[in-house]
Amino acid sequence: MDFANMTQTDWMLLAILILIGIIAILVLLTGVYVAAVLRIILKQQSGEEVHESLWSRWLKKIGGTEQPVEVQEQVLMLDHNYDGIRELDNHMPPWLKFLYFATVVFSVGYLLAYHVFEWAPLQEEEFEIEMQQATIAIEEYKKTQANLIDESNVELLSDAAALEAGKAIFVQNCAACHGNEGQGGVGPNLTDDAWLHGCNIKDVFKVVKYGVPQKGMVPWQNSLKPQEIQQVASYVLSLRGTNPPNPKEPQGEKCE
Ligand code: HEC
Repeated sequence: MDFANMTQTDWMLLAILILIGIIAILVLLTGVYVAAVLRIILKQQSGEEVHESLWSRWLKKIGGTEQPVEVQEQVLMLDHNYDGIRELDNHMPPWLKFLYFATVVFSVGYLLAYHVFEWAPLQEEEFEIEMQQATIAIEEYKKTQANLIDESNVELLSDAAALEAGKAIFVQNCAACHGNEGQGGVGPNLTDDAWLHGCNIKDVFKVVKYGVPQKGMVPWQNSLKPQEIQQVASYVLSLRGTNPPNPKEPQGEKCE
C-alpha cells in the first residue's frame, strides 16, 4: 500500500476497516469466554469435578489471586485501626510488576540504541531528513514543470542564478540585434520606458516566444526551452532603466 499518496477518504476507509477488525476480534473473544463459563457451570450442575485449566491457573498466578480474598485479607491486614477503618498492605500484582520491569529493560535498550550507538535518528534529525527529502522532491517536480511554462502562467524571476542564466542566453542569441547591454540596434532598445509590445513578463515572454517575424524579431519557441525564455525575458526586464551608452531612440508607447 502506498501510504504517501493516500487521500483523506483512503485514510477514513482504512480506519473503518481497522475498527471493524477490532470489533470482530472482541466479539470472537467474548464468544469464547461465554462458552468457557457455560461449560464450567454445566459441569458443576451435573456434579462433575471441574478441573482448573492451565490458562486460568496462569491468570490467577499473574493476577496474584491464587488464594481466595478472605485468606489474603487475613495476611495483609495491618495492625492500625482508624475509627474502624483498617488498611491492607497490598502488593502490586505480578503482571503489573512485570510490566514495570519490562519498561525499565526497554528504556535501557532505547537509551543504547538512540543515544549511545546512534543506530537510528532522533526526532529532530528525522524531521530534518524528511524536510531535505521534500526539498529534493520539490526540485524534481519543478524540473518536470519547467517545460509547462507559457505566456499565461509565466512569472518574473528575480533570483541571481536565473538572471545570470538569462544574461548568458541574451548575450548569445539577442545581443546581435538588441546590443550587448540591450541598448538597441536592429531591434529596439530594451532598457527604456518605451515598448512596442508591452512591458510585463507575459508580454515579453510572448514576443520572445512567437517573435514578430514580419518586423525582423525571430520566434524563439523552437530554439529555446520555455524556462530559458522565462529567464531571458526576466533578464530583459531587469535591464530597464540601466541607461547604457549609445541608446537607440525610444520606440512604441511609454509603459508602466
Ligand atoms: C535578428 C534580430 C533580432 C534578434 C536576434 C532578436 N531580436 Fe528581439 N526584436 C528584433 C526586432 C526587429 C524587434 C522589433 C519588432 C517590432 O518592431 O515589432 C524586436 C523586438 C523585441 C522585443 C519587444 C520590444 C518592445 O519594444 O516591445 C523584445 C522583448 C525582444 N525583441 C527580445 C529579444 C530577445 C530576448 C532576443 C533573444 C532571445 C531577441 N529579441 C533576439 C530583432 C531581433
